[in-house]
Amino acid sequence: MENLLKKIEGYRNEIAAFTALDAKAVEEFRIKWLGTRGIVKEIMGAMKNVAADKKKEAGQLLNEFKLFAENKYAQLKETTINHQPDTSTQIDLTLPGDDIPLGSRHPVTLMRNRIVSIFQRLGFAVAEGPEIEDDWHNFGALNLPEHHPARDMQDTFYIQQNPDFLLRTHTSNVQIREMEKGVLPIRGIYPGRVYRNETVSARSHCFFHQVEGLYIDENVSFADLKQTLYFFVKEMYGKDVKVRFRPSYFPFTEPSAEMDVSCFICGGEGCSVCKKTGWVEILGCGMVHPNVLSNCGIDPNKYTGFAFGMGIERPAMLKYGINDIRLFSENDVRFLKQFTSAI
Ligand code: DAH
Repeated sequence: MENLLKKIEGYRNEIAAFTALDAKAVEEFRIKWLGTRGIVKEIMGAMKNVAADKKKEAGQLLNEFKLFAENKYAQLKETTINHQPDTSTQIDLTLPGDDIPLGSRHPVTLMRNRIVSIFQRLGFAVAEGPEIEDDWHNFGALNLPEHHPARDMQDTFYIQQNPDFLLRTHTSNVQIREMEKGVLPIRGIYPGRVYRNETVSARSHCFFHQVEGLYIDENVSFADLKQTLYFFVKEMYGKDVKVRFRPSYFPFTEPSAEMDVSCFICGGEGCSVCKKTGWVEILGCGMVHPNVLSNCGIDPNKYTGFAFGMGIERPAMLKYGINDIRLFSENDVRFLKQFTSAI
């Protein structure tokens, strides 16, 4: 009995001092102490050698010891599980970050921003106008009265329920809306979408985009118009590009002109883009017609001004080498994600 007591005391100390770092060590603990051939079983077997009068006391002692070993085992299991490194949530701070897919701007937006920002640097303020417009703002006020033959230059989508309303055929309607406000002088740049009833093909579409410019003040001359557009061309196409003005006709300007730049694909040698002429047409412009000023309540004897309008798709197609205008509106991500730029 004395011996058994001593033995158990020694075992208790051993168990109390035991620590396990991983599940394997805990399992070894279980086998050593609580297994079928473990120490607890072994000393239980030694009970038979205990004198009959001590059996009760010894049985109690052994039971307590067994419980002690079992508790320790439970505790070891608990702590090693809790301290197991959880590989599912562990973060390796040295790994590179996940890529966040970034969208890219639409090529029409890129080109519009480029054009607009050049004029903004000259003090032109950005404004927009409605795409569903009335006849007056799209045609009438721009010196295109009903039955004017120049209306045929722009095939128009009319609103069925009320043909006095239409989808604007150009951004020139914004000129009228800005002049009507009566706040002078005006120096504005007006980007937007326009619509024409044209057969859709690789070269033309039933909707596209334009940028309109307007400058109204006292003593604005054709020289101001030329200088402003020269500046634009140099910024847009580079210092070596040549410019020419050709006389033209628009009902809302007098005199009117179209501006060409030397072909930036072939440098003026002649290629398929410039149709062997060496020149690419980029915009229409002119001095705002006195009738247009009067239509907007501006005194043409006091104020003069110039206006211009240009498409966005064509310069974008030339810049990015796009050969089909329909690509702009098909929303094919493989096409769209190719265009990157700071603006
Ligand atoms: N609105 C014309 C068009 O769509 C472009 C244009 C020409 C606008 C001359 C103007 C201008 O402001 O002065 O073809």
